[in-house]
Amino acid sequence: MKKLNRRDALRAGGLFTLGTFANFEKLWSNSVNDANLNNNKFIFQSPSISEYTPPKMPKLTSLKARLHWNENPFGPSEKALNSFVKNAKSGNYYSWDLLNDFVDKIAKKENVNTDQIMTGPGSSDLLEKTAISIFQEGEGNVVTADPCYMSLVNVVGSMGGNWRAIKLNENFEHDLDGMRNAIDSNTKLVYITNPNNPTATITDSKKLLKFCSEVSEKIPVFVDEAYIELSQGGLSNSMAELVSQGKDIIITRTFSKIHGMAGLRMGYMIARPERIEKINNITRGGMGITGPTINAAMSSLDDFNFLKASKNKIISNRIYTVNKLESRGFKPMPSETNFLIFELPKKVDPNKFLTEIYSKKVTVKVFNFWNKNWCRVSIGSKNSMDTFFEAFDQAVA
Ligand SMILES: Cc1ncc(COP(=O)(O)O)c(C=O)c1O
Repeated sequence: MKKLNRRDALRAGGLFTLGTFANFEKLWSNSVNDANLNNNKFIFQSPSISEYTPPKMPKLTSLKARLHWNENPFGPSEKALNSFVKNAKSGNYYSWDLLNDFVDKIAKKENVNTDQIMTGPGSSDLLEKTAISIFQEGEGNVVTADPCYMSLVNVVGSMGGNWRAIKLNENFEHDLDGMRNAIDSNTKLVYITNPNNPTATITDSKKLLKFCSEVSEKIPVFVDEAYIELSQGGLSNSMAELVSQGKDIIITRTFSKIHGMAGLRMGYMIARPERIEKINNITRGGMGITGPTINAAMSSLDDFNFLKASKNKIISNRIYTVNKLESRGFKPMPSETNFLIFELPKKVDPNKFLTEIYSKKVTVKVFNFWNKNWCRVSIGSKNSMDTFFEAFDQAVA
């Protein structure tokens, strides 16, 4: 079997298996502007989930309520910021020693060995590198939820792989039996996001533990835990204990959500050493992470007061937003994250809605899945949520 590199896979038309994922390597805002130039209704389209094209992106710094990327307005913590600045003075040096300290700290926290940790500048880096490593032969399929977070799936497509998406069940949990049945002899990976994006919903951790434990005997299971700290049960919902038991489970975590460090870029993976070695054979984990970020991440991990306050504020503002949505007759899905998603009224044209709301300097995302249009709004400060509702009421009127 010929080995395909990424460009070959693209030329071979691997993307067609997923629909159109043009410009996947470009900045999101460039893709938005390209879609606008070409008059495309969707910024991306796939058999399972599509995202409506917003109008030309306003300058992000000019926004009044920036609610499209599930960022955390309450971070970074003061302690993290101080550590960042302190370390910036050593910016002339590479930061491998510091990264080793970070890996030691994470290994202790997760109760695994240091060779079971891989770091990256955000978890996207690790999702994508895993897809490149597992699908480098340019064949096979990944089984996911419908809808799911698309970063990993896009790369599987660009490598030439296929995608099997299984609709969430009526409680908006992963349909674990359906996913199990979808696995065939070509399946190379099962990808689960818990809590899920874009639905914000969580899958029962006991059921998921059983599924991961059994399925990983045959196929590696990737559990993306970007929002796990924000879920009701927090880290008790994690699947990390299965890695300690030696199972072929790949977990990713990020500092972009509860830690409020999306722009500083830090994430890590917990997996079997053999799995990490395979990824490291063709890519390099920690090279893209800066010393100041590593220092900031270590301080943030220890700042329990900040982490608790960050979660509490997000939950309180989420309840505030749910109440306001419900009072307007909307029914958001039950969220265990820092965002909400709800169905847009049928009479609302999604592209016009986005144009209207963006003109008020308020940003959200609109998706189409299950033949319905959905508005996804991140949870910001109370002020930004009020600004959102002012613009929203006019945009859906
Ligand atoms: C489910 C999920 N996984 C991963 C990521 C990537 O985050 P980052 O690369 O900032 O760690 C996101 C970002 O929104 C996400 O929603």
